[in-house]
Amino acid sequence: MTTSNSPTVEGPRGCRPVEYGETLDLLNWVFRAHQGHRPSMGGDYPHLYNLPNVSNLRILKVDGRIVSCVAIYQAQVRCNSAEITVGGIGGVGTDPDHRGKGYARLCLTDALSHMAAQNCDLSILWTGIDDFYRALGWERAGLWAHFQIDNSTNSLLPIIDPAKVSAAIDEQAIMDVDSLHTTSGQGLVRDLGLTELMLSRVGHHCYTLRDQLGGAASAYVVTNEGGTIKDYAGTPEGVLGLMKYAMTEHRWSHARIITPATADDTHKLLGDLRIPCRNDYLGMIHVLSPASLLSKTGLSDIAIKESGGEFTFTRHSESTVVSQLGLAKLLFGPERYSDFASDELPLDLYWSEWDHM
Ligand SMILES: CC(C)(COP(=O)(O)OP(=O)(O)OC[C@H]1O[C@@H](n2cnc3c(N)ncnc32)[C@H](O)[C@@H]1OP(=O)(O)O)[C@@H](O)C(=O)NCCC(=O)NCCS
Repeated sequence: MTTSNSPTVEGPRGCRPVEYGETLDLLNWVFRAHQGHRPSMGGDYPHLYNLPNVSNLRILKVDGRIVSCVAIYQAQVRCNSAEITVGGIGGVGTDPDHRGKGYARLCLTDALSHMAAQNCDLSILWTGIDDFYRALGWERAGLWAHFQIDNSTNSLLPIIDPAKVSAAIDEQAIMDVDSLHTTSGQGLVRDLGLTELMLSRVGHHCYTLRDQLGGAASAYVVTNEGGTIKDYAGTPEGVLGLMKYAMTEHRWSHARIITPATADDTHKLLGDLRIPCRNDYLGMIHVLSPASLLSKTGLSDIAIKESGGEFTFTRHSESTVVSQLGLAKLLFGPERYSDFASDELPLDLYWSEWDHM
């Protein structure tokens, strides 16, 4: 009797609720235990790894065991004062014993089809292995800003009354963060439930500033343990005052705050103080539906035709042709490869680091 040595491959497909535990085990092995860290993926990214999101965990099985996974975090994100649907990608991992067989590529290709079927306008991810994702259509695009503060320059930040600062994550804090973030009109759209989930993220602190006892907060900041302000909203004086407070509280000699590149009031105040600023790409973006993106952001006067993997954009008498990778640059910049519709492009997109996976 002869036996076949070729493995039985199943998927990629959506994870089923009964497979959720095994998927989390694989992610903890690949991203934590295999690298000498404790298995913390669920608590580190509760917005991505939760049972209701199980069908967005795309898995591949070999001989009945889950060996490769890609996780999708579907979010509504503000873009040019409109809301677009974005598929954030995290947890791209293959069991070390099964690497180099094309399994991650298969899961990512399946994730692209799944996001398109869910009407995502684009996908975004963060990585150190750009070329792997570039080959599948993601390209570095968009922009954000990092401002660096140290023990000397923090003297420039506003002073706030420590008695008005709260570090409690209670019902009041959840409502304050939700309300201030919504009013800011930036980044991901969060409701109270998502805000509460985000505030449960391990390794983060949230400080709120309340000018009057019992009143609503005027600002909040969310920091990690390492001195990065990953999310904030409210008055710029309050935000930077809370940053100074957090630096003192944690005895950080350096801290940084990440802001949108298109100056909001906090960015402007840091600019007025001439704090050094570094710009970086917002992430790697794969544009899934350029027509829907333009329609949602009010740019319906731009027509798009796709042929042979190239996209021709036309508006009145001007036109330009771009590839799949060029789409991300044309629509989100930052580089100017074309003067096409430069009065309206690039679009304004932001995804705070707190919402990363
Ligand atoms: C990256 C990873 C998911 C690839 O999984 P895989 O199933 O082996 O991937 P595939 O077989 O589909 O593709 C292999 C390709 O991955 C790319 N790749 C893997 N690790 C890489 C690295 N550290 N740097 C650059 N490219 C890398 C290579 O292009 C490789 O192509 P090659 O086989 O021709 O050399 C896997 O190595 C892994 O789990 N790494 C640890 C977790 C991680 O870093 N995930 C990515 C986070 S953004």
